[in-house]
Amino acid sequence: MFPEIRMRRLRNGRIRDLVRETSLSADNLIYPMFVDETISTVQSTASMPGVDRLPLDRVADDAKEAADLGIPALILFGIPAHKDAQGSSAWGDEDIVQQAVREIKEELGRDMLVITDVCLCEYTDHGHCGMVDMEKGEVLNDQTLPLLGRTAVSHAKAGADMVAPSGMMDGMIGAIRSALDENGLRDIPIMSYAAKYSSAFYGPFRDVAESGCCFGDRSTYQMDPANSDEAMREVELDIMEGADIIMVKPALPYLDIIYRVKNEFKMPTAAYNVSGEYAMIKAAAQNGWLDEKKVMYESLLSIKRAGADMILTYFAKDMARMLK
Ligand code: PBG
Repeated sequence: MFPEIRMRRLRNGRIRDLVRETSLSADNLIYPMFVDETISTVQSTASMPGVDRLPLDRVADDAKEAADLGIPALILFGIPAHKDAQGSSAWGDEDIVQQAVREIKEELGRDMLVITDVCLCEYTDHGHCGMVDMEKGEVLNDQTLPLLGRTAVSHAKAGADMVAPSGMMDGMIGAIRSALDENGLRDIPIMSYAAKYSSAFYGPFRDVAESGCCFGDRSTYQMDPANSDEAMREVELDIMEGADIIMVKPALPYLDIIYRVKNEFKMPTAAYNVSGEYAMIKAAAQNGWLDEKKVMYESLLSIKRAGADMILTYFAKDMARMLK
């Protein structure tokens, strides 16, 4: 009655390396950065230990550190000094993200792919991702689209290599694609936050980016965590509108979505390992309840195994260091 087939034969020593199906490399990582127009020194954040908000004059150094670790790309989020109802600090040539892009490109040139998050929530005084009809308490879809187009164009003109719209407005990919094309920016790719769920896992990010909502929540535009077929439709639409890379967000609680999206569309697929996923691991590690490095590696490897080609993660530098 002894087992004839022994799976354990392949688990011992170097043979484990030969049969490994998934590998993680620094090439798969995208490093999120926060540049804050209101500060002059680096500020740490309470809910995301290890993640800082940077003044403009520190972004190039930080980006260089990521480049030196072999990380090919970063994504920039801006915290403006001035917020208003439209989010008008999102699209000015001298606004904070545009300046940060120029600083980083000047320092690193082609060694670092600079992606910009295109959304209005950090720039609006009400904290929503689009324009709002205050009387009705409604986020206005179509009126928001030209503002997103304008923002994307200003990022690309400042030197951004790729734009990443995250606001979940219907038609935003098409609107941004035409705005870029009309401005001679045909070669700027779009990474769409295509299947973005209305998730409580964004909590720590909203502290860091000061982008919390003052009324309601984002459930009228972000997806219901209960839905999976709907994610396929969102992704399909974004591909038809011109998305070059599609994203699923969050990552760990949505591995099934990553798997389905990759299998169905065979497109370059990104996953966002979001702030809450990061904070949970950090908090448990600080209590001595989890081995941080091992859990970080296992988590990111699992996201890759599910089908993601690239991962946006606050662990990017730590992971790259560990892989070196
Ligand atoms: C902006 C945006 C958010 C995140 C990325 N881009 C916040 C949100 O939708 O509330 C979340 C990232 C994270 O939690 O790490 N729209």
